[in-house]
Amino acid sequence: MALVTMRQLLDEAARGGYGVGAFNVNNLEQVQAIMEAARETGSPVIIQASSGARKYANDRFLYHLMLAASEVYPEVPVALHQDHGNSPETCKSAIDLGFTSVMMDGSLEADGKSPASFDYNVDVTREVVEMAHERGVTVEGELGTLGGIEDGHGSGEVNLTDPDQAVEFVERTGVDALAVAIGTSHGAYKFTKEPDREVLAMHIIEEINQKLPTTHLVMHGSSSVPKELVDLINEYGGEIAPTWGVPVHEIQEGIKHGVRKINVDTDLRLASTGAIRKAFSEDPSAFDPRYYLKPAREAMQGVVRARMEAFGQAGHAEDYEPITLDDMATRYKEQGHQLTVS
Ligand code: G3H
Ligand code: 13P
Ligand code: ZN
Repeated sequence: MALVTMRQLLDEAARGGYGVGAFNVNNLEQVQAIMEAARETGSPVIIQASSGARKYANDRFLYHLMLAASEVYPEVPVALHQDHGNSPETCKSAIDLGFTSVMMDGSLEADGKSPASFDYNVDVTREVVEMAHERGVTVEGELGTLGGIEDGHGSGEVNLTDPDQAVEFVERTGVDALAVAIGTSHGAYKFTKEPDREVLAMHIIEEINQKLPTTHLVMHGSSSVPKELVDLINEYGGEIAPTWGVPVHEIQEGIKHGVRKINVDTDLRLASTGAIRKAFSEDPSAFDPRYYLKPAREAMQGVVRARMEAFGQAGHAEDYEPITLDDMATRYKEQGHQLTVS
């Protein structure tokens, strides 16, 4: 059983100078693709479920898929994380279910759309930190808002993170990891051309890292939207307009400046959609789901493998023994919120 806390994964990543991909899941094939890529590359990994995913799959199914994953892949340290928790109640239900990490996204109000005040964000995040750390569970907070509303999440308004406010936020909340807004958005349509430093504000990461050198930074909306994946979808009848994501080399720059968790969902959606469209086009008479889900799973595995290698987590799966939630709870109690695990 290798379900670990995200805090341990990120502390180890900081020690080793690499980043860890956090991949979203909604179903069996996504879990299998990610775990298989982790085994292939010898990587620790974060698997995350949004509230939408928990609703779609029924969260007990997701939790048990994760337990199965930790049995089948015992050598892979894996953290199970609630992505974009919209309220302390959502985070509590994830913790009750057995998630080892939660994100309290107090940058938005509980509707997941309206930008929230700084004080509201501090209050709800602090509440989750108190509740989670008592049980050894890791907490990610977010300051600033991402753009992108096409998936029903987010305000559509970009408010870049203020580095001075970030210092106050981390001090007042005690979060383990901080998601920052640097101009990215969720989904496939992030930028209308190859992003330069005008639209992708990497300098904010550098400034925050200088002010908070021991805080683990998180990049959301970090799919790279590779042209070949978009082209494959369009070649087989899809209609994805020209678009750009976050270049992998920019993520690698971020990793040099304290980024430890990188959220990727869209690239797996694109990879599986292209593979399924291609399979249907090649054999329009096919109707066995295994016929099209197998290539979809392989395509997702390919994307995850490439990211694991690029983020530097490859080869680090067996660097350490997982610390239990009970042990983490004791450490938080004895050392306070800003502890160091490794
Ligand atoms: O937060 C964004 C992730 O891509 C999850 O998306 O809310 O559609 O599951 P979702
Ligand atoms: P992408 O839409 O860029 O994959 O971002 C995913 C994400 O940030 C999940 O929280
Ligand atoms: Zn996100």
